[in-house]
Amino acid sequence: MPELLMPALVALIIIYIVIKFMTKKSIPKGPPQKWPFIGNAFEIDSQNPQETFINWSKKYGDVFSVKVFGEDIVIVNGFDAVYEALVTKSTEFAGRPKQFRVKLMLDGEYTGSCWDNWSNPKMRLLKKAAMRSMKQFGEGLDRLETISLGVIEELIGVLDSKEEQPFYPEHIINKATTCIILLYLFGEEYHMDHPHLAVLHKMLRYWEDSMGNASGLLLDIFPWLRFFGNKAYREISKAAEIRDSIFLPLIKKRKETIDKANPDCVCDALLLLQEEQRKVGKVITELDIKITLQDSFMGGVDTTTSAVTGMLLILMNYPEVQTKLQREIDGVIGTERPPSLADKSKMAYTEAFILEMLRYMSLAALGLPRATETDTTLRGHPLPKGIMVVLNLWSVHHDPGQWDDSFTLKPERFLNEDGTPVSPDHPNKRNFFPFGAGHRICIAQVLAKSRLFLFVTSLLQKFTFLPPEGTTPPSCDPRLFKRALILVPQPFQVRAIRWQQPDDKI
Ligand code: HEM
Repeated sequence: MPELLMPALVALIIIYIVIKFMTKKSIPKGPPQKWPFIGNAFEIDSQNPQETFINWSKKYGDVFSVKVFGEDIVIVNGFDAVYEALVTKSTEFAGRPKQFRVKLMLDGEYTGSCWDNWSNPKMRLLKKAAMRSMKQFGEGLDRLETISLGVIEELIGVLDSKEEQPFYPEHIINKATTCIILLYLFGEEYHMDHPHLAVLHKMLRYWEDSMGNASGLLLDIFPWLRFFGNKAYREISKAAEIRDSIFLPLIKKRKETIDKANPDCVCDALLLLQEEQRKVGKVITELDIKITLQDSFMGGVDTTTSAVTGMLLILMNYPEVQTKLQREIDGVIGTERPPSLADKSKMAYTEAFILEMLRYMSLAALGLPRATETDTTLRGHPLPKGIMVVLNLWSVHHDPGQWDDSFTLKPERFLNEDGTPVSPDHPNKRNFFPFGAGHRICIAQVLAKSRLFLFVTSLLQKFTFLPPEGTTPPSCDPRLFKRALILVPQPFQVRAIRWQQPDDKI
């Protein structure tokens, strides 16, 4: 009997390999895999994967695949291929890969406005409700503009209290950003010294760490590791505890106080959606609401913090741009009143600066991971349903064919010769996706741009940002940024000098 065991085992292995080979769907080729299972993982620069992918695209074409710990991932580079996936074939590429860590963050169920597949009608409803509510805050709503400015005024007070001495800005800006996002999500006014802010900051760091470290990757591959004290599992559990301790009472309060005729925040919009759906026999659960709010919190705080922190680093490196911005602010807004969103249309240089800053830093360098929702093709390559796809947005924003000298900041790229804004069909406006595009576009692009406008104008109306006395500023080249869930500037110090007329002081 034992003598039959060996040939049977060999036969089984051969059958397994043949079935695997026969059912393997073809995917575009990429760099050879040096190691079984590990695949290309160790050849990808963990700090700059977007640049590794650009280098490989020169050899393997704009669509190629890599293998990372047993998983095939299709990498998409350059405007034409990214545009086809984002826009032309938006529905086919609108899925999200199913990763165990993500499922844990969602309390065990793929739901909400970010991590579920587009083909799920509930996901589309949740995203639409959140997005509609956010859009209102981007333009128009006076109360929210006033309160955003209230938080920014508080931030200005904190910068003033530094008395022109150097400080690290990231944490302070993170607090201001968190206050504003909490206001949009829960209609709740927070001040920058509220104890919740430090706790929520910790929650974001737990998520970031568990998504970025090796123990997190191992947990995706071997979910049973959660029973053996896996670090990422502990971090995700702690983050969920914090979220529940702060979000659940806020949701309860909204439920009790909601003015149905005047929804005032994203939570209100979701509660109304829940009621509306109940009337037609459909269920939006408490979990759906909580996770949709979590999506926006996760998506909103770090992106805006990095954008504003990166902006300070850029301003120190480009003093002539800083002076031009201040001149425009002085000419349009002056010093007597706070900026308003109504000033936007009169401030072409500031608007161009914001767009160029988003292009230059490309904070969401690889977007969020996608998955195909059907068998499809991309640039002629067949792709099977369910394969993970990474869209290299950075490669579009730093394509030397489109952007000369792409690592130099030039707001003029978004201006005509006469200083007016370029039209929406100008190539520089079209070949540009800082917020993604198509079905999975960022829910807050209008809001995010408006808020950046209020940050830039309010801060530069009051201050000039300079490096510590006698030093040159650290480089603002985004290739040197830290890679977390998005790109984050390395810690740096800045001085906020009370602004005076350019001729007097700068
Ligand atoms: C400078 C600021 C921001 C940048 C650069 C940015 C960038 C992006 C990008 C590129 C995506 C698309 C991912 C994809 O294509 O699959 C995205 C999605 C998303 N963003 Fe933003 N974002 C910003 C601010 C915000 C803010 C303020 C919020 C919420 C308050 C937010 C919430 C979301 C959500 C929920 C999604 C997922 C949408 C979906 O999966 O369909 N983002 N963001």
